Amino acid sequence: MAKSAPLPGTSDIFPAEIGAWRFLENTARSVFERYNYGELRTPIFEATEVFQRGLGDETEVVQKEMYTFDDRGGRSCTLRPEGTAGAMRALLNTDVLNGVEQRVFYIGPMFRGERPAAGRRRQFHQVGVENVGRVAPELDAETIAMLLGFLEELGITGATLKLNTRGVAADRPAAAEALKAYFSKHIDLLCEDCRKRLQGNVWRILDCKVESCRNIIADVPDYAGMFSEESRAYFQKVCQYLDWLGIKYEIDPFLVRGLDYYVHTVFEITHPGLGAQNAIAGGGRYELTLPGESKPVIGVGFAAGMERLLMVREALNLPADGGIQAPPCVFVAALGEAAEEFKFKFTASLRKQGIAAASELAGKSLKAQMRAANRVNAACAVIVGDDELSRQVAVLRDLAGGEQKEVALGELESEIKKLINK
Ligand code: HAM
Repeated sequence: MAKSAPLPGTSDIFPAEIGAWRFLENTARSVFERYNYGELRTPIFEATEVFQRGLGDETEVVQKEMYTFDDRGGRSCTLRPEGTAGAMRALLNTDVLNGVEQRVFYIGPMFRGERPAAGRRRQFHQVGVENVGRVAPELDAETIAMLLGFLEELGITGATLKLNTRGVAADRPAAAEALKAYFSKHIDLLCEDCRKRLQGNVWRILDCKVESCRNIIADVPDYAGMFSEESRAYFQKVCQYLDWLGIKYEIDPFLVRGLDYYVHTVFEITHPGLGAQNAIAGGGRYELTLPGESKPVIGVGFAAGMERLLMVREALNLPADGGIQAPPCVFVAALGEAAEEFKFKFTASLRKQGIAAASELAGKSLKAQMRAANRVNAACAVIVGDDELSRQVAVLRDLAGGEQKEVALGELESEIKKLINK
């Protein structure tokens, strides 16, 4: 590890890379706001029980991956491993428990103590949305359509939408019994983790990646067929709404998702441009119970991993920054004492007018100043010496084209604007 490297599974994001992130963020804001979602910013850490209760004690995230610490007052806190539980805690202050709809999105870092690998990080970033307060298949379908719209505006093609139903709590015991009976018959062929899951949470066997387990899983009984008529009709309607929009999906009975709060619809978007960690986004409908609450908050939402979105855009050879250009910069070069004063004041005045401006420290040669202009990728340079100043002119050089001319100081700003707005 280099001396100044960040901790494993975390990254610094340098100015040269920030355009790519802003492009994701701007696109997310633009798409989600068209669906009437407003941005919510919640704290990066919460009381630990918000996640324990919200995501479920049995989930891998809660059991193995949380960054938990004492807040110095004896209260256990945890860096948020995902955004839904914190958003629900915040929304309890609104009328969501009475069925009043809230539409929020969030963008920010999440923390999971996973083993770092390509596309798997300890601090990663999600852009997520939550539609909270009401239950309706059209909301599930609209949320999925919005996610696909977001990916489309990011230029991401070739992604696969996988869809499944988890039914509701009342549907599960009978289906879980059928799964247990089936897997018990093949216990000898299951991996050690799955043998434990058979007792703890049989559903998790369905997304086990171990080859020997996959062979057994391939022939599981049709558990969704055992769900209530109502739950099956709910899922059919979600599919119907997606069909109306011409959205292609694969129904994947092995998709259960890792968090316990899901009911009814669950979905995931995968992309072949990623390696083993191929999910760019995942979500579904949920009932999330917070500590001290008897009633769950209901909603539907998703989160997309921003690092993975960037990886997919790279695999598709899309420009990292989505074509967003930094504003053109004016470099002001000065030779002589009077010219220094002019340089210092003129760069300040350009910046006040909303024009990006740069200069070198006092006393550098013209050559050094022009090298600095090159480093900041300036569009044009204003060059003044004491001689020019005494004649009330400056040299304006177009650094892309190479032409230059003398301009009266009184016209300098308007000439600069003409040049950079070309
Ligand atoms: P999730 O599937 O755990 O769902 O995470 C969503 C996305 O975050 C994943 O598809 C992946 O792109 C990214 N992600 C997860 N873990 C990592 C990691 N260690 N490194 C890099 N990227 C990662 C949730 O978090 C739910 N809260 C989504 C949701 C919102 N469901 C309903 N509403």
